[in-house]
Amino acid sequence: MKAKEIKPDIYWVGVKDWNLREFHGYATPHGSTYNSYLIMDDKITLVDGVKHYMCREHLARIQSIVDFSKLAYVVVNHVEMDHSGNIPDIMKLAPQAKIITNTAGKQALEAHFDTEGWEYEIVKTGDSISIGKRTLEFMTTPMLHWPDSMMTYVKEDKLLLSNDGFGQHYASDGIFVNEQPLDIIIREAKSYYANILFPFGAQAEKALSTAGSLGLDIEMIAPSHGCIWSGKEEVGTILELYAKWASGQNEGKAVIVYDSMWGATAALAEAAMAEFQDAGIPVTKHCLAVENVSEVIVDFLDAKYVLIGNPTLNNQLFPRVAGFLAYMKGLNPRNKTALAFGSYGWRPGVVKQIQQAFDELGWQSVEPFEEKYTPKSDVLDKFRERVRELIKL
Ligand code: FEO
Repeated sequence: MKAKEIKPDIYWVGVKDWNLREFHGYATPHGSTYNSYLIMDDKITLVDGVKHYMCREHLARIQSIVDFSKLAYVVVNHVEMDHSGNIPDIMKLAPQAKIITNTAGKQALEAHFDTEGWEYEIVKTGDSISIGKRTLEFMTTPMLHWPDSMMTYVKEDKLLLSNDGFGQHYASDGIFVNEQPLDIIIREAKSYYANILFPFGAQAEKALSTAGSLGLDIEMIAPSHGCIWSGKEEVGTILELYAKWASGQNEGKAVIVYDSMWGATAALAEAAMAEFQDAGIPVTKHCLAVENVSEVIVDFLDAKYVLIGNPTLNNQLFPRVAGFLAYMKGLNPRNKTALAFGSYGWRPGVVKQIQQAFDELGWQSVEPFEEKYTPKSDVLDKFRERVRELIKL
């Protein structure tokens, strides 16, 4: 794939990781991309690197436009290794280039790499650097996704190079959102937000508000993963979605997550589902035996009600349920109303560990529900009554 011009004299020079199926625990069925951008101006500027194992392809794509000896700046928007992995290779080829990053970015680069001899321009929110006909403006966005994260705005092109923000793990033969089915791109952007940025809603709200106060007039958002949002309509769509997700507002839906050994916990999950359906509340049900946690967590953005069911194994949480709880607690979803449930053979009580997770997250909840062996119809009726209590909260 050739370098592609996204604005006059600004090129996509990234790489497509078609075979990626897992990104630190996050399932990526569509692969991913590590986007990088080359701005051909008086001071030629490269924005973001790529994962180290795709270095050669990235370097060749840059070299198809310009020789490394001409690079003046390398902007490091974020030091996670999917964007910085080959920065040392770039700096070997372009030792004259200065790194533009923020204080936390410089510290992180020095912690990861041998940076001897590298020169820096350290920037913070509101700073700008002229590169000729263009002005680069910077906005630090700590925790979106690491403390070092920032975004770069190319003022004259109304272009926001947003790194992890607004991205999607999605590889395709195009580079623009309008070349792909919009519903799939939005689903992947939502999945990306849920799995990467969920804990940082407050920081996302602050970044959106800072972009407003800086008066950024954005016509194109080019993230460092997935496709580019182009034109006011697409830009408006993703900004609105981020504002909604960051606010913690939900759509009042229900999500049931469970695992089962001999069908007892599955029967309780099915009864809960029927209760929500009878109440006219949209509901989804996920069995952890067949679904990756990163698929399940996407529904938490829309859910008011969360139900988690566990089959007791050796007086412990079932391992897949324990793993899901750890993943969920790390992502820290807010404002949920919850019910823990499960089944046991000879000793009850394990379900309290799920309740404890709800309490740690500060969620409202009703009393957990447990049943010995297979729930008969009277037990299922009692459980549905507990779900009705939950709906009333
Ligand atoms: Fe795409 Fe936080 O790295």
